[in-house]
Amino acid sequence: MTLKKHHRDWLESVFASDAKFEEPMSRHTSLHVGGPAEAHVSPRNQSDLVTLVKWLKENNLPFLVVGSGTNLLVLDGGVRGVVISIKQCLNDIHHQNPEQNRVRVSAGASVRLSALCKYAGTNGFQGLNFALGIPGTVGGAIFMNAGTHHGCMADIVSSVAVLMPHGEIKTFEHTTLSFRYRGLDWPPAVSNDNQPGIIIEGCFNLAVTSKKTVLAEANEILKKRSATQPLHRWSAGCIFKNPPEGKTAGQLIDLAGLKGKRIGDAQVSNTHANFIINRGQASAADILKLKSDIQNTVFSSFKVRLETEVQIVGT
Ligand code: EPU
Repeated sequence: MTLKKHHRDWLESVFASDAKFEEPMSRHTSLHVGGPAEAHVSPRNQSDLVTLVKWLKENNLPFLVVGSGTNLLVLDGGVRGVVISIKQCLNDIHHQNPEQNRVRVSAGASVRLSALCKYAGTNGFQGLNFALGIPGTVGGAIFMNAGTHHGCMADIVSSVAVLMPHGEIKTFEHTTLSFRYRGLDWPPAVSNDNQPGIIIEGCFNLAVTSKKTVLAEANEILKKRSATQPLHRWSAGCIFKNPPEGKTAGQLIDLAGLKGKRIGDAQVSNTHANFIINRGQASAADILKLKSDIQNTVFSSFKVRLETEVQIVGT
């Protein structure tokens, strides 16, 4: 146990029913697996989030921030400390007046990428359609520099607002951020502290075109996505990063003959081989074992080491 009784009492007194204890993380992840979080807290607004983060810092308690839980594999032993769910806060989207056919759109970290794409589409703002293929929230997508063949977050981010452990909010312009393939290296101001900052908002630089143009492109991408991905099954999206060159992870797993392979209720999707689906009762251990079997088979067949894209947390 990381949390003492007085910690639980404080969380309960400040967050009432928004603080839950021994909360199964399987309820909060798109894979529907994961053991209990010692505490699971959903602040209702930014000011409550700041209060919580400052308290965690003062008490030197570990925490994990979770958006939509779509790129997350929580292990069966669960998560120690506090899981902060940002679902109930950081969900505003707005834009400034366009200038010279460009516009800055700001979105809170818990806004779903699909909702941000819809907002951009209905306003005729172009540049976000690449993200239609990606599950998850704005905060997670920035942190992972999420992307597809059509682009990645680094292409459109103009700045990122981060809540620092002592409660202050710092804005980092794109030029101070080091995006890499499926990741972001924070400037020392954020990463030097043993408690990391929390992304609370992203600001995106988009082109102003017409609603018709953006939505027509979006429809094409969505049609392709629903034909090629198991969207209605429990999964965490693509489980592996694509190798830097050559065939994609999905192609390699498919060519290795692994589609349909099962361990318990964890299965390599027959629709897209880079998805592991939970058929209902899978444990995190089943998923981990299947993931490592895939890596071993792909390595022995093609001498390619597949790197995991999904974030693995817990014990
Ligand atoms: N393919 C196969 N077999 C499969 C799956 C795919 O042969 O089982 C082939 C396809 O036919 C296509 C090629 O592989 O020729 C690439 O497939 P796809 O267009 O689906 O792209 P991907 O590289 O597998 C990436 C992102 C997805 C995103 C799609 C949108 C990564 C790791 N994945 O997939 O992102 O939705 O592009 O086009 O970059 C995610 O990150 O969670 C995710 C789902």
